[in-house]
Amino acid sequence: MAARQKIIILDFGGQYTQLIARRVRENHVYSEVVPWSVPAEELKKAAPAGIILSGGPSSVQDENAPLCDRAIYDLGVPLLGICYGMQLTAQLLGGRVERATEREYGRVNVRINSGSALTQALSPESACWMSHTWQVTKCPPGFAAVAQTDNCPIAAMANEEKRIYGVQFHPEVTHTQQGRLLLANFLTNVCGCTGDWTMEAYADIAVRQIQDITGEHGTVLLALSGGVDSSVAAALIYRAIGKRLTCVYVDHGFMRKGESEQVCDVFRRLFPVRFVRADAASRFFADLKGVTEPEQKRHIIGRDFVEVFKAEAQKLGKLDYFAQGTIYPDVIESGQGTNAAVIKSHHNVGGLPKELGFAELIEPLRMLFKDEVRALGEALGLPRELVWRQPFPGPGLAIRVIGEVTPEKVEIVRESDFILRDEIAKAGLSGSVSQYFTVLTGVHSVGVMGDERTYDYTVALRAVTTDDFMTADWARLPYDLVARVSERIVNEVPHASRVVLDVTSKPPASIEWE
Ligand code: XMP
Repeated sequence: MAARQKIIILDFGGQYTQLIARRVRENHVYSEVVPWSVPAEELKKAAPAGIILSGGPSSVQDENAPLCDRAIYDLGVPLLGICYGMQLTAQLLGGRVERATEREYGRVNVRINSGSALTQALSPESACWMSHTWQVTKCPPGFAAVAQTDNCPIAAMANEEKRIYGVQFHPEVTHTQQGRLLLANFLTNVCGCTGDWTMEAYADIAVRQIQDITGEHGTVLLALSGGVDSSVAAALIYRAIGKRLTCVYVDHGFMRKGESEQVCDVFRRLFPVRFVRADAASRFFADLKGVTEPEQKRHIIGRDFVEVFKAEAQKLGKLDYFAQGTIYPDVIESGQGTNAAVIKSHHNVGGLPKELGFAELIEPLRMLFKDEVRALGEALGLPRELVWRQPFPGPGLAIRVIGEVTPEKVEIVRESDFILRDEIAKAGLSGSVSQYFTVLTGVHSVGVMGDERTYDYTVALRAVTTDDFMTADWARLPYDLVARVSERIVNEVPHASRVVLDVTSKPPASIEWE
């Protein structure tokens, strides 16, 4: 493959390092994240078009502060230091870094001098995202300040001749209004990147990495959940090793209408790997009998999933590697990088590879964000309707039945969910509402149908708009649409006699009801 322009990101442990990589990829430039300690000689061999130094939690004054190889500044490669990366650059090149008199955190107004290649076409004033205690108080020789805030006179610095830059704010986060433009300036004006990179190219690289791990004969076991991520991982591994991949799909009985069939059909037709489908619905229902507490439901489902999977895997004999479709937000959520409290224990198979005796994991999507995974799925030939599905929780419809889960109740949610999805699709709104589903509330209410008194279930409609699923607003669905959905649910779904609309945002409510 022809040498491709590449940006190397030195990771100093910042919260947003992967976000920087993603922003670079958005500009169709290939990027690799490597530890901060990689020596300059090695970086030189990789021949990057540019180097970015990430932010990080340390202070350059700390005794054990991570200091990159000083020689990287003499490689003649363009360089951008972000936050800690800027402070480090200033410190190593003879500037001064001091504790800020006023710590800046959050949205701050920044004034920009447009004379630099980095700031070209940026408007003179805009909001940026700051998060720092230390700051550069004197530029190193050859550098000039090219941005300021009220409390930070050197919010960005530039050495145009050496093509070395630093920004104290975070251009990679969306709160920095002109951040994308600034990064694009760095990539194109400074590094001369032409944007020659695509998802197809990512697939090629990932395929080679998988082949490097498995060698010519290695076999791989993958737990297919029916969701987008594991399906894309399976398609990718299939491209790398063909029939040496075995997929095990545990059907817990809580999938949406037609979904299990769709997954099985796609794999039989497009990716003809060894495919095992374990229909385990009766076991899951039996173990959930009488259980009403949401977390307990999740734990039982998680445990049963592992048990069923294990039993199937043992029947298959020894396979060499275990693969899973972990994506970057999962890495963050599982606590590697945040101290976020566990609001809900997400159903996953974290402990599974170890229990099955696998030493090495293949996680080819680990560095990708959700929309990138979808784009990759399309590049690999997965059908659009599978790739662009809205998110679906691991425990499935079981956590959309409030209280005890029974086959009858799951059927009510499944059918009403299908009607909601169908009407939203017909209204052409599938792309503008982030997630939508129905919930079988435990509430019975009185009604009248054909002169008879009824006392049946209340179904709630939940639809939200959100970028990241961490916060969400309730979607303002057109009333006519809500009316059609309501009418169809009470007419077509047995035992649903009332429909209500959930008009709560997150926070305070979560997206799911359990
Ligand atoms: P909440 O309800 O926490 O949902 O606001 C945020 C997003 O996560 C999904 N979700 C889950 N996903 N296992 C999953 O894999 C779970 O147990 C689970 N609970 C919630 C939810 O559908 C939404 O997209």
